Amino acid sequence: MSSTSRLPGFYKMKMAERLRRLAAALEDPDLEGLGESDTLPLANADAMIENAVGVLGLPVGIGLNFQINGEDVLVPMAVEEPSVIAAVSLAAKIAREGGGFKVDADEPRMIGQVQVTELANPAAARAAILREKEQILAVANALHPAMKARGGGAKDLEVRLLQVGAETHAVVHLIVDTQEAMGANLINTMCEGVAPLIERLSGGRVRLRILSNLADLRLARASCRIPFEAMSDFGFSGAEVAHGIAEASLFADADPYRACTHNKGVMNGVDAVALATGNDWRAIEAGAHAFCARNGRYEPLTRWWVEAGALHGSIEIPIQVGTVGGAVKANPLIPVLLRMMGNPGARRLAGIMAAVGLAQNMAALRALGTVGIQKGHMALHARNLAVSAGAKGKAVEEVARALIAAGEIKLHRAQEILAKMVGTASAEVT
Ligand code: MEV
Repeated sequence: MSSTSRLPGFYKMKMAERLRRLAAALEDPDLEGLGESDTLPLANADAMIENAVGVLGLPVGIGLNFQINGEDVLVPMAVEEPSVIAAVSLAAKIAREGGGFKVDADEPRMIGQVQVTELANPAAARAAILREKEQILAVANALHPAMKARGGGAKDLEVRLLQVGAETHAVVHLIVDTQEAMGANLINTMCEGVAPLIERLSGGRVRLRILSNLADLRLARASCRIPFEAMSDFGFSGAEVAHGIAEASLFADADPYRACTHNKGVMNGVDAVALATGNDWRAIEAGAHAFCARNGRYEPLTRWWVEAGALHGSIEIPIQVGTVGGAVKANPLIPVLLRMMGNPGARRLAGIMAAVGLAQNMAALRALGTVGIQKGHMALHARNLAVSAGAKGKAVEEVARALIAAGEIKLHRAQEILAKMVGTASAEVT
Protein backbone atom coordinates (compact mmCIF):
# COMPACT_ATOMS: atom_id res chain seq x y z
CA MET A 1 0.00 0.00 0.00
CA SER A 2 1.21 3.48 -0.84
CA SER A 3 2.28 5.85 1.94
CA THR A 4 1.22 8.79 -0.21
CA SER A 5 -1.40 9.39 -2.86
CA ARG A 6 0.39 12.56 -3.93
CA LEU A 7 2.24 11.97 -7.17
CA PRO A 8 2.92 15.44 -8.56
CA GLY A 9 3.45 15.56 -12.31
CA PHE A 10 1.91 12.07 -12.75
CA TYR A 11 -0.40 13.36 -15.45
CA LYS A 12 2.50 14.69 -17.50
CA MET A 13 4.35 11.36 -17.67
CA LYS A 14 4.10 8.79 -20.42
CA MET A 15 2.18 5.67 -19.41
CA ALA A 16 5.30 3.48 -19.15
CA GLU A 17 6.96 6.07 -16.97
CA ARG A 18 3.89 6.26 -14.70
CA LEU A 19 3.89 2.51 -14.28
CA ARG A 20 7.62 2.46 -13.52
CA ARG A 21 7.04 5.19 -10.95
CA LEU A 22 4.21 3.27 -9.30
CA ALA A 23 6.12 -0.01 -9.36
CA ALA A 24 9.13 1.66 -7.76
CA ALA A 25 7.09 3.58 -5.17
CA LEU A 26 5.13 0.51 -4.13
CA GLU A 27 7.97 -1.98 -4.68
CA ASP A 28 5.57 -4.08 -6.75
CA PRO A 29 7.05 -5.05 -10.12
CA ASP A 30 3.69 -6.50 -11.26
CA LEU A 31 2.42 -2.96 -11.62
CA GLU A 32 4.61 -2.53 -14.67
CA GLY A 33 2.56 -5.30 -16.32
CA LEU A 34 -0.54 -3.07 -16.24
CA GLY A 35 0.63 -1.49 -19.45
CA GLU A 36 0.42 -4.72 -21.41
CA SER A 37 -2.59 -4.86 -23.68
CA ASP A 38 -3.49 -8.49 -22.95
CA THR A 39 -4.34 -7.91 -19.31
CA LEU A 40 -7.42 -10.09 -19.71
CA PRO A 41 -6.19 -13.19 -21.55
CA LEU A 42 -8.56 -14.37 -24.26
CA ALA A 43 -8.82 -17.79 -22.59
CA ASN A 44 -10.14 -16.14 -19.40
CA ALA A 45 -12.59 -14.04 -21.39
CA ASP A 46 -13.81 -17.17 -23.12
CA ALA A 47 -14.39 -18.93 -19.82
CA MET A 48 -16.12 -15.93 -18.26
CA ILE A 49 -19.05 -15.50 -20.63
CA GLU A 50 -20.99 -17.28 -23.36
CA ASN A 51 -20.21 -16.45 -27.01
CA ALA A 52 -17.06 -14.52 -26.17
CA VAL A 53 -15.43 -12.97 -29.21
CA GLY A 54 -12.82 -10.74 -27.70
CA VAL A 55 -11.89 -8.29 -25.03
CA LEU A 56 -13.06 -4.71 -25.02
CA GLY A 57 -10.34 -2.42 -23.77
CA LEU A 58 -11.11 0.38 -21.35
CA PRO A 59 -8.48 2.71 -19.93
CA VAL A 60 -7.59 2.19 -16.29
CA GLY A 61 -6.31 5.30 -14.55
CA ILE A 62 -5.49 6.28 -11.01
CA GLY A 63 -7.54 8.71 -8.94
CA LEU A 64 -4.86 10.61 -7.04
CA ASN A 65 -4.68 12.73 -3.89
CA PHE A 66 -7.22 10.74 -1.86
CA GLN A 67 -6.88 10.86 1.87
CA ILE A 68 -9.43 8.60 3.50
CA ASN A 69 -9.78 8.28 7.28
CA GLY A 70 -6.33 9.85 7.53
CA GLU A 71 -4.64 7.41 5.13
CA ASP A 72 -3.58 8.04 1.57
CA VAL A 73 -4.95 5.67 -1.03
CA LEU A 74 -4.45 5.30 -4.78
CA VAL A 75 -7.77 4.60 -6.45
CA PRO A 76 -7.90 2.55 -9.67
CA MET A 77 -10.69 3.63 -12.01
CA ALA A 78 -11.76 2.13 -15.35
CA VAL A 79 -13.68 4.62 -17.43
CA GLU A 80 -14.04 5.92 -20.98
CA GLU A 81 -15.15 9.49 -20.16
CA PRO A 82 -12.10 11.78 -20.56
CA SER A 83 -12.69 14.18 -17.66
CA VAL A 84 -13.58 11.76 -14.86
CA ILE A 85 -10.14 10.96 -13.43
CA ALA A 86 -8.71 14.45 -13.89
CA ALA A 87 -11.75 15.92 -12.13
CA VAL A 88 -11.85 13.48 -9.22
CA SER A 89 -8.11 13.85 -8.58
CA LEU A 90 -8.48 17.62 -8.43
CA ALA A 91 -11.46 17.36 -6.07
CA ALA A 92 -9.54 14.97 -3.80
CA LYS A 93 -6.62 17.40 -3.77
CA ILE A 94 -8.94 20.21 -2.67
CA ALA A 95 -10.59 18.00 -0.05
CA ARG A 96 -7.27 17.07 1.53
CA GLU A 97 -6.88 20.74 2.48
CA GLY A 98 -9.64 20.01 4.97
CA GLY A 99 -8.24 16.64 6.05
CA GLY A 100 -9.63 14.50 3.24
CA PHE A 101 -12.63 12.21 3.60
CA LYS A 102 -14.07 10.43 6.62
CA VAL A 103 -15.77 7.21 5.64
CA ASP A 104 -17.56 4.27 7.19
CA ALA A 105 -19.59 1.35 5.91
CA ASP A 106 -22.15 -1.00 7.44
CA GLU A 107 -21.53 -4.70 7.87
CA PRO A 108 -21.95 -6.43 4.50
CA ARG A 109 -25.53 -7.60 5.01
CA MET A 110 -27.57 -8.32 1.91
CA ILE A 111 -31.22 -9.26 1.50
CA GLY A 112 -32.45 -12.37 -0.32
CA GLN A 113 -36.13 -12.50 -1.24
CA VAL A 114 -38.40 -15.55 -1.32
CA GLN A 115 -41.86 -14.70 -2.68
CA VAL A 116 -44.74 -16.85 -1.42
CA THR A 117 -48.03 -16.77 -3.33
CA GLU A 118 -51.42 -18.54 -3.23
CA LEU A 119 -51.80 -18.10 0.52
CA ALA A 120 -55.16 -19.01 2.08
CA ASN A 121 -54.31 -17.04 5.22
CA PRO A 122 -51.33 -14.68 4.69
CA ALA A 123 -51.14 -13.54 8.33
CA ALA A 124 -51.08 -17.14 9.60
CA ALA A 125 -48.45 -18.04 6.97
CA ARG A 126 -46.29 -15.14 8.12
CA ALA A 127 -46.57 -16.26 11.76
CA ALA A 128 -45.73 -19.88 10.81
CA ILE A 129 -42.61 -18.79 8.91
CA LEU A 130 -41.43 -16.54 11.74
CA ARG A 131 -41.96 -19.32 14.31
CA GLU A 132 -39.47 -21.49 12.43
CA LYS A 133 -36.96 -18.72 11.80
CA GLU A 134 -34.05 -20.59 13.44
CA GLN A 135 -34.73 -23.72 11.39
CA ILE A 136 -34.84 -21.72 8.14
CA LEU A 137 -31.57 -19.96 8.99
CA ALA A 138 -29.97 -23.32 9.79
CA VAL A 139 -31.06 -24.75 6.42
CA ALA A 140 -29.64 -21.68 4.65
CA ASN A 141 -26.35 -21.85 6.54
CA ALA A 142 -25.95 -25.59 5.92
CA LEU A 143 -25.69 -24.69 2.24
CA HIS A 144 -22.59 -22.58 2.88
CA PRO A 145 -20.83 -23.85 6.01
CA ALA A 146 -17.56 -22.09 5.10
CA MET A 147 -19.27 -18.69 5.14
CA LYS A 148 -20.84 -19.49 8.50
CA ALA A 149 -17.45 -20.62 9.84
CA ARG A 150 -15.97 -17.27 8.80
CA GLY A 151 -18.57 -15.46 10.89
CA GLY A 152 -20.95 -14.69 8.02
CA GLY A 153 -24.02 -16.45 6.62
CA ALA A 154 -27.77 -16.10 7.13
CA LYS A 155 -28.35 -14.00 10.26
CA ASP A 156 -31.96 -12.96 10.33
CA LEU A 157 -35.31 -13.29 8.65
CA GLU A 158 -38.24 -10.94 8.15
CA VAL A 159 -41.60 -11.48 6.47
CA ARG A 160 -43.48 -8.69 4.69
CA LEU A 161 -47.08 -9.05 3.58
CA LEU A 162 -47.44 -7.36 0.23
CA GLN A 163 -50.47 -6.65 -1.92
CA VAL A 164 -49.64 -7.86 -5.45
CA GLY A 165 -52.60 -7.37 -7.78
CA ALA A 166 -55.60 -9.04 -6.12
CA GLU A 167 -53.49 -11.32 -3.87
CA THR A 168 -51.55 -10.87 -0.66
CA HIS A 169 -48.08 -12.41 -0.90
CA ALA A 170 -45.63 -13.14 1.88
CA VAL A 171 -42.18 -11.86 0.95
CA VAL A 172 -39.52 -13.47 3.09
CA HIS A 173 -36.31 -11.48 3.51
CA LEU A 174 -33.31 -13.60 4.34
CA ILE A 175 -30.61 -11.32 5.75
CA VAL A 176 -27.16 -12.64 4.95
CA ASP A 177 -23.75 -11.42 6.06
CA THR A 178 -21.64 -11.95 2.94
CA GLN A 179 -18.27 -11.01 4.51
CA GLU A 180 -15.73 -10.25 1.75
CA ALA A 181 -18.06 -11.32 -1.08
CA MET A 182 -20.62 -9.28 -2.98
CA GLY A 183 -22.75 -12.31 -2.22
CA ALA A 184 -25.17 -12.71 -5.13
CA ASN A 185 -24.48 -16.42 -5.73
CA LEU A 186 -24.44 -17.27 -2.06
CA ILE A 187 -27.77 -15.56 -1.41
CA ASN A 188 -29.47 -16.99 -4.48
CA THR A 189 -28.39 -20.50 -3.45
CA MET A 190 -29.73 -19.93 0.05
CA CYS A 191 -33.05 -18.53 -1.22
CA GLU A 192 -33.56 -21.53 -3.47
CA GLY A 193 -32.44 -23.88 -0.70
CA VAL A 194 -34.94 -22.65 1.92
CA ALA A 195 -37.86 -22.44 -0.53
CA PRO A 196 -39.27 -25.98 0.01
CA LEU A 197 -39.28 -25.50 3.80
CA ILE A 198 -40.99 -22.11 3.44
CA GLU A 199 -43.61 -23.67 1.16
CA ARG A 200 -44.30 -26.38 3.71
CA LEU A 201 -44.56 -23.92 6.58
CA SER A 202 -46.73 -21.41 4.76
CA GLY A 203 -48.95 -23.73 2.74
CA GLY A 204 -48.37 -21.39 -0.23
CA ARG A 205 -46.44 -21.59 -3.46
CA VAL A 206 -42.94 -20.13 -3.70
CA ARG A 207 -42.24 -18.18 -6.86
CA LEU A 208 -39.19 -15.86 -7.10
CA ARG A 209 -36.05 -16.64 -5.08
CA ILE A 210 -33.37 -14.04 -5.62
CA LEU A 211 -31.30 -11.36 -3.88
CA SER A 212 -32.50 -7.76 -3.74
CA ASN A 213 -30.11 -5.19 -5.17
CA LEU A 214 -31.72 -2.58 -2.95
CA ALA A 215 -28.88 -3.19 -0.49
CA ASP A 216 -30.11 -0.70 2.09
CA LEU A 217 -28.63 -2.63 5.01
CA ARG A 218 -25.23 -2.18 3.44
CA LEU A 219 -24.74 1.57 3.27
CA ALA A 220 -21.45 3.39 2.90
CA ARG A 221 -21.00 6.98 4.00
CA ALA A 222 -18.38 9.63 3.33
CA SER A 223 -18.07 13.25 4.39
CA CYS A 224 -15.65 16.11 4.06
CA ARG A 225 -15.16 19.66 5.30
CA ILE A 226 -13.22 22.02 3.07
CA PRO A 227 -12.18 25.50 4.19
CA PHE A 228 -13.12 28.31 1.81
CA GLU A 229 -9.39 29.08 1.18
CA ALA A 230 -9.01 25.75 -0.61
CA MET A 231 -11.95 26.40 -2.92
CA SER A 232 -11.05 29.55 -4.82
CA ASP A 233 -10.53 29.08 -8.55
CA PHE A 234 -11.52 30.37 -11.99
CA GLY A 235 -11.25 33.93 -10.62
CA PHE A 236 -13.95 33.21 -7.99
CA SER A 237 -13.38 33.48 -4.24
CA GLY A 238 -13.50 30.30 -2.17
CA ALA A 239 -16.76 31.45 -0.58
CA GLU A 240 -18.33 32.01 -4.01
CA VAL A 241 -17.30 28.56 -5.25
CA ALA A 242 -18.55 26.92 -2.02
CA HIS A 243 -21.91 28.73 -2.19
CA GLY A 244 -22.22 27.73 -5.85
CA ILE A 245 -21.83 24.06 -4.86
CA ALA A 246 -24.31 24.40 -1.97
CA GLU A 247 -26.87 26.05 -4.28
CA ALA A 248 -26.44 23.29 -6.85
CA SER A 249 -27.08 20.78 -4.08
CA LEU A 250 -30.38 22.52 -3.19
CA PHE A 251 -31.40 22.44 -6.85
CA ALA A 252 -30.85 18.65 -6.90
CA ASP A 253 -32.91 18.35 -3.69
CA ALA A 254 -35.79 20.21 -5.31
CA ASP A 255 -35.84 18.66 -8.78
CA PRO A 256 -35.63 14.99 -9.80
CA TYR A 257 -34.56 15.99 -13.33
CA ARG A 258 -31.50 17.65 -11.83
CA ALA A 259 -31.04 15.00 -9.09
CA CYS A 260 -30.71 12.34 -11.79
CA THR A 261 -27.83 14.14 -13.53
CA HIS A 262 -26.29 15.06 -10.19
CA ASN A 263 -26.30 11.35 -9.29
CA LYS A 264 -24.93 10.41 -12.71
CA GLY A 265 -21.89 12.49 -11.81
CA VAL A 266 -21.57 10.60 -8.50
CA MET A 267 -21.81 7.27 -10.31
CA ASN A 268 -19.11 8.31 -12.81
CA GLY A 269 -16.66 7.77 -9.97
CA VAL A 270 -18.36 4.90 -8.16
CA ASP A 271 -18.81 2.79 -11.31
CA ALA A 272 -15.25 3.39 -12.46
CA VAL A 273 -13.90 1.96 -9.19
CA ALA A 274 -16.42 -0.90 -9.36
CA LEU A 275 -15.19 -1.81 -12.83
CA ALA A 276 -11.52 -1.58 -11.90
CA THR A 277 -12.06 -3.85 -8.89
CA GLY A 278 -14.10 -6.49 -10.75
CA ASN A 279 -17.41 -5.55 -9.19
CA ASP A 280 -20.92 -5.61 -10.62
CA TRP A 281 -21.58 -1.95 -11.39
CA ARG A 282 -25.11 -2.64 -12.64
CA ALA A 283 -26.04 -3.96 -9.19
CA ILE A 284 -24.55 -0.86 -7.56
CA GLU A 285 -26.34 1.45 -10.01
CA ALA A 286 -29.70 -0.27 -9.50
CA GLY A 287 -29.27 -0.19 -5.72
CA ALA A 288 -28.20 3.44 -5.64
CA HIS A 289 -31.12 4.72 -7.70
CA ALA A 290 -33.72 2.64 -5.83
CA PHE A 291 -32.26 4.00 -2.57
CA CYS A 292 -32.63 7.55 -3.91
CA ALA A 293 -36.36 6.97 -4.38
CA ARG A 294 -36.90 5.53 -0.87
CA ASN A 295 -38.90 8.56 0.33
CA GLY A 296 -41.31 8.34 -2.60
CA ARG A 297 -39.43 11.01 -4.55
CA TYR A 298 -36.11 10.69 -6.39
CA GLU A 299 -33.43 12.50 -4.35
CA PRO A 300 -29.70 13.24 -4.69
CA LEU A 301 -27.13 10.88 -3.17
CA THR A 302 -25.05 13.75 -1.78
CA ARG A 303 -25.66 16.94 0.15
CA TRP A 304 -23.45 20.05 0.25
CA TRP A 305 -23.84 23.01 2.58
CA VAL A 306 -21.86 25.97 3.85
CA GLU A 307 -21.16 26.34 7.57
CA ALA A 308 -18.57 28.28 9.59
CA GLY A 309 -16.31 29.31 6.72
CA ALA A 310 -16.21 25.91 5.10
CA LEU A 311 -17.98 23.75 2.54
CA HIS A 312 -19.37 20.50 3.97
CA GLY A 313 -20.36 17.49 1.91
CA SER A 314 -21.79 14.07 2.67
CA ILE A 315 -22.97 11.00 0.84
CA GLU A 316 -24.85 7.87 1.86
CA ILE A 317 -25.09 5.13 -0.74
CA PRO A 318 -25.69 1.37 -0.81
CA ILE A 319 -22.49 -0.25 -2.02
CA GLN A 320 -22.62 -4.00 -2.71
CA VAL A 321 -19.06 -5.02 -3.48
CA GLY A 322 -16.71 -7.92 -2.91
CA THR A 323 -12.98 -8.39 -2.89
CA VAL A 324 -13.09 -12.14 -3.51
CA GLY A 325 -14.91 -14.34 -5.99
CA GLY A 326 -15.13 -15.17 -9.65
CA ALA A 327 -14.92 -11.80 -11.36
CA VAL A 328 -12.12 -10.60 -9.09
CA LYS A 329 -9.99 -13.65 -9.89
CA ALA A 330 -10.87 -14.00 -13.58
CA ASN A 331 -8.96 -10.90 -14.58
CA PRO A 332 -5.31 -11.03 -13.46
CA LEU A 333 -5.17 -7.24 -13.43
CA ILE A 334 -7.75 -6.90 -10.66
CA PRO A 335 -5.74 -8.46 -7.81
CA VAL A 336 -2.85 -6.18 -8.79
CA LEU A 337 -5.12 -3.13 -8.65
CA LEU A 338 -6.60 -4.20 -5.31
CA ARG A 339 -3.07 -4.65 -3.99
CA MET A 340 -2.28 -1.13 -5.14
CA MET A 341 -5.16 0.08 -2.94
CA GLY A 342 -3.67 -1.79 0.03
CA ASN A 343 -5.99 -4.81 -0.37
CA PRO A 344 -8.99 -3.18 1.26
CA GLY A 345 -11.65 -5.49 2.60
CA ALA A 346 -15.17 -5.18 1.19
CA ARG A 347 -16.21 -2.65 3.84
CA ARG A 348 -13.20 -0.39 3.35
CA LEU A 349 -13.62 -0.62 -0.42
CA ALA A 350 -17.25 0.47 0.00
CA GLY A 351 -16.10 3.48 2.06
CA ILE A 352 -13.48 4.41 -0.54
CA MET A 353 -16.12 4.22 -3.28
CA ALA A 354 -18.42 6.50 -1.31
CA ALA A 355 -15.57 9.04 -0.99
CA VAL A 356 -14.85 8.80 -4.72
CA GLY A 357 -18.53 9.42 -5.49
CA LEU A 358 -18.57 12.47 -3.22
CA ALA A 359 -15.35 13.86 -4.74
CA GLN A 360 -16.59 13.25 -8.29
CA ASN A 361 -19.81 15.10 -7.50
CA MET A 362 -17.91 18.01 -5.93
CA ALA A 363 -15.76 18.33 -9.04
CA ALA A 364 -18.84 18.57 -11.28
CA LEU A 365 -20.70 21.05 -9.05
CA ARG A 366 -17.59 23.19 -8.63
CA ALA A 367 -17.38 23.67 -12.39
CA LEU A 368 -21.15 23.90 -12.92
CA GLY A 369 -21.50 26.54 -10.19
CA THR A 370 -18.81 28.71 -11.77
CA VAL A 371 -17.51 28.61 -15.34
CA GLY A 372 -19.56 25.64 -16.53
CA ILE A 373 -18.52 22.11 -17.35
CA GLN A 374 -17.65 22.51 -21.01
CA LYS A 375 -14.38 24.37 -20.59
CA GLY A 376 -12.60 21.42 -18.98
CA HIS A 377 -14.56 18.80 -20.93
CA MET A 378 -13.79 20.33 -24.29
CA ALA A 379 -10.05 20.45 -23.64
CA LEU A 380 -10.09 16.71 -22.95
CA HIS A 381 -12.50 16.06 -25.80
CA ALA A 382 -10.08 17.87 -28.12
CA ARG A 383 -7.38 15.33 -27.22
CA ASN A 384 -9.76 12.47 -27.99
CA LEU A 385 -10.59 13.98 -31.37
CA ALA A 386 -6.89 14.41 -32.12
CA VAL A 387 -6.36 10.70 -31.44
CA SER A 388 -9.43 9.77 -33.54
CA ALA A 389 -8.04 11.89 -36.39
CA GLY A 390 -4.86 9.78 -36.29
CA ALA A 391 -2.44 11.96 -34.31
CA LYS A 392 0.17 10.16 -32.26
CA GLY A 393 2.76 11.17 -29.67
CA LYS A 394 3.44 14.90 -29.46
CA ALA A 395 0.98 15.61 -32.26
CA VAL A 396 -1.97 14.78 -29.96
CA GLU A 397 -1.33 17.83 -27.79
CA GLU A 398 -0.50 20.01 -30.81
CA VAL A 399 -3.72 19.13 -32.61
CA ALA A 400 -5.75 19.50 -29.40
CA ARG A 401 -4.28 22.95 -28.75
CA ALA A 402 -4.96 24.05 -32.32
CA LEU A 403 -8.57 22.79 -32.05
CA ILE A 404 -9.16 24.79 -28.88
CA ALA A 405 -7.54 27.88 -30.41
CA ALA A 406 -9.76 27.50 -33.50
CA GLY A 407 -12.79 27.36 -31.19
CA GLU A 408 -14.20 24.49 -33.24
CA ILE A 409 -13.73 21.16 -31.48
CA LYS A 410 -14.87 18.83 -34.25
CA LEU A 411 -13.38 15.73 -35.87
CA HIS A 412 -13.22 17.20 -39.38
CA ARG A 413 -11.29 20.18 -38.00
CA ALA A 414 -8.84 17.84 -36.22
CA GLN A 415 -8.31 15.97 -39.49
CA GLU A 416 -7.65 19.22 -41.36
CA ILE A 417 -5.20 20.45 -38.70
CA LEU A 418 -3.40 17.13 -38.69
CA ALA A 419 -3.20 17.02 -42.47
CA LYS A 420 -1.60 20.49 -42.45
CA MET A 421 0.86 19.42 -39.78
CA VAL A 422 1.81 16.33 -41.76
CA GLY A 423 2.28 18.61 -44.75
CA THR A 424 4.78 20.62 -42.75
CA ALA A 425 6.26 17.34 -41.36
CA SER A 426 5.90 18.41 -37.74
CA ALA A 427 3.52 15.66 -36.73
CA GLU A 428 4.32 12.15 -35.61
CA VAL A 429 1.38 10.43 -37.27
CA THR A 430 2.49 6.92 -37.95
C1 MEV B 1 -21.18 14.21 -16.75
O1 MEV B 1 -20.70 12.92 -16.99
C2 MEV B 1 -21.61 14.39 -15.32
C3 MEV B 1 -22.25 15.73 -14.99
O2 MEV B 1 -23.37 15.95 -15.83
C4 MEV B 1 -22.69 15.65 -13.54
C5 MEV B 1 -23.52 16.84 -13.08
O3 MEV B 1 -24.19 17.49 -13.88
O4 MEV B 1 -23.51 17.07 -11.84
C6 MEV B 1 -21.31 16.86 -15.20
